[in-house]
Amino acid sequence: MEEKKTFYITTPIYYPSDKLHIGHTYCTVATDAIARYKRQCGYDVMFLTGTDEHGQKIEEKAKAAGVTPQAFVDRIVTGEGGILDLWKLMNISNDRFIRTTDDYHVEAVQRIFKKMYDKGDIYKGAYKGKYCTPCESFWTESQLKDGKCPDCGREVHDAEEEAYFFRLSKYAKPVQELLESGSFLEPASRVNEMVNNFIKPGLEDLCVSRTSFTWGIPVDFDPGHVVYVWVDALFNYCTAMGFLNDKYDDYDKYWPADVHIVGKEIVRFHSIIWPAMLMSMEMPLPKKVYGHGWLVIDGGKMSKSKGNVVDPYVLADMFGVDALRFFLLRTFPFGSDGNFSNELLISTINTDLANDLGNLVSRTTAMVEKYFGGALIAEREADPIDDELVEMIRSTKGKYAKQMDALQLHLALEEVFRLIQRANKYIDECAPWVLAKDESKKPRLASVMYNLLEALRVSLVMLTPFIPQSCEKAFAQIGASGKAVSWEKAGEYGVLPANVTVHKGETLFPRIDMAKALEELEKREHANDAPKAKPVLPDVSIDEFARCDMRVCKVLTCEAVKKSEKLLKFTLDDGSGSPRQILSGIHKFYEPEELVGKTVVAILNLPPRKMMGQMSNGMLLSAVREVNGQEELHLIMLDDSVPAGSQLC
Ligand code: MSP
Repeated sequence: MEEKKTFYITTPIYYPSDKLHIGHTYCTVATDAIARYKRQCGYDVMFLTGTDEHGQKIEEKAKAAGVTPQAFVDRIVTGEGGILDLWKLMNISNDRFIRTTDDYHVEAVQRIFKKMYDKGDIYKGAYKGKYCTPCESFWTESQLKDGKCPDCGREVHDAEEEAYFFRLSKYAKPVQELLESGSFLEPASRVNEMVNNFIKPGLEDLCVSRTSFTWGIPVDFDPGHVVYVWVDALFNYCTAMGFLNDKYDDYDKYWPADVHIVGKEIVRFHSIIWPAMLMSMEMPLPKKVYGHGWLVIDGGKMSKSKGNVVDPYVLADMFGVDALRFFLLRTFPFGSDGNFSNELLISTINTDLANDLGNLVSRTTAMVEKYFGGALIAEREADPIDDELVEMIRSTKGKYAKQMDALQLHLALEEVFRLIQRANKYIDECAPWVLAKDESKKPRLASVMYNLLEALRVSLVMLTPFIPQSCEKAFAQIGASGKAVSWEKAGEYGVLPANVTVHKGETLFPRIDMAKALEELEKREHANDAPKAKPVLPDVSIDEFARCDMRVCKVLTCEAVKKSEKLLKFTLDDGSGSPRQILSGIHKFYEPEELVGKTVVAILNLPPRKMMGQMSNGMLLSAVREVNGQEELHLIMLDDSVPAGSQLC
């Protein structure tokens, strides 16, 4: 048997520093559609995505959250609502997922770094910069704020830090040649940008190790240095295939990658630094780097600090995963920036999916049911009016494939929608409802219905990479299965059986009421503004936890403490037989009368504490949260049936 041709496609690996937004989703969904298309065409596809988990930013965020960097990234990658969950929700068909903290990757990167060092392409030098002594931090000139330390605002001084450098300058010429010949980097406009802005002014050697933080891959032959995060990250494309490690054995099969899909701001890393390092390693170069544009809002990039990030979970929940996937790839030319708006999203769904595609499916299946009881008769009668539609059924595949192969996803979809719109027009031209009135026109009516089903069949095959779940449902509705839904048959006419049976089902894409949906979105976006709960604190052992003696108590008396605005004085039955006095600063939230008789929870073995001259022997437990800058407190109260003295465990 002939071996399938391979196709290796990658997305960038994402930083797990915050939740991913619709811009990240755009990049992954686009790559997914290409991977699905290639599989359809018969390629043996390897689709890789993953997470880029090292670096100072992650180290700092973890510190601020009071957790280890590993715990921090684990939560964003594998936790509920995290990156893996998002890709599952968006129906991403990646074949592999790499995390740069995976052991096999770490070890392989150490070997790679050593190889380039042994070759003389990595050397030890000094990284010159500014130093803030109190913070013990190195800064570059551009990182300073008004010439001072961006962290503490104090004076900085010139300093040098020992660091390793990669001889990027040595590869300037071959990299320029690579960029200027053939189609290594696309769209072509990005080539000039790289050559003129970065190579021609002179490529400097690249600092590839750091000593000012520790969350990175250690340089194993020089403790104290960690590998620069981009060196670590870029090699993921090879280590995930098994390069210099035993975890996988697919490197020879898939490398070099057919295409790296990346956003425009990281084209520089992928089209200059990456090929230079591969040249140094004497490894084959990827065949293509495609730099797509950004999704922007009001012309600007989405960012958490601007507060304008769009949550894909909210949109997928409201409009459906396929509708969201479709919108992203139908609306914006892949190589350019696209201005995202909820209005555009809703109108695209209504026009293309509800109106054009959805209506064609529902009208066609409804008519086959109404006029033929669901199963077409085999007898048919052609008419010259069919010719244009039949020709489009045959020719759209070729035009679509040309655009897909050029990664012009929106233009590929344009071809499919031309066919769908033509089919809708054909319904009006043929007026099946008129034909249905005349029994002798049944064969003609059957022909019209058959042509519509065929137009739908080939359109759906081509839409499958974009809206896979909906196409599966639509295929069932139009009675198409097996070979008929294959890519191979997407350019043929006359594939469905003559007596094809339809099954009218649920509406695939209900029309969305724009005003109502916008209002709902507004609400949900504000719900997202609500403060997030604080991150989980570092682990305590079960023994440490067990030393906290927490018990159920009944409030016997409660009164305000004189001269104190905050304090309430409680006498509690803690089940021991003698009353216990506890003071609690919760007067702002409760009046004493409302608490008498309540069943509360207290920790009893805190050291006694004197407040406003009175002793407090323990502390009442409450749930606290900050909402819009205000503290909210809820005393923990249990059902009255729980007896005093019951222990919490
Ligand atoms: N970790 C690096 C990539 C290393 S690859 C060896 C990185 N990560 S990222 O999470 O910041 O970005 C991942 C991808 O998401 C990039 O391609 C980036 O362009 C893309 N996008 C982030 N915001 C985007 C938009 N608003 N619009 C489109 N894509 C965007 O960079």
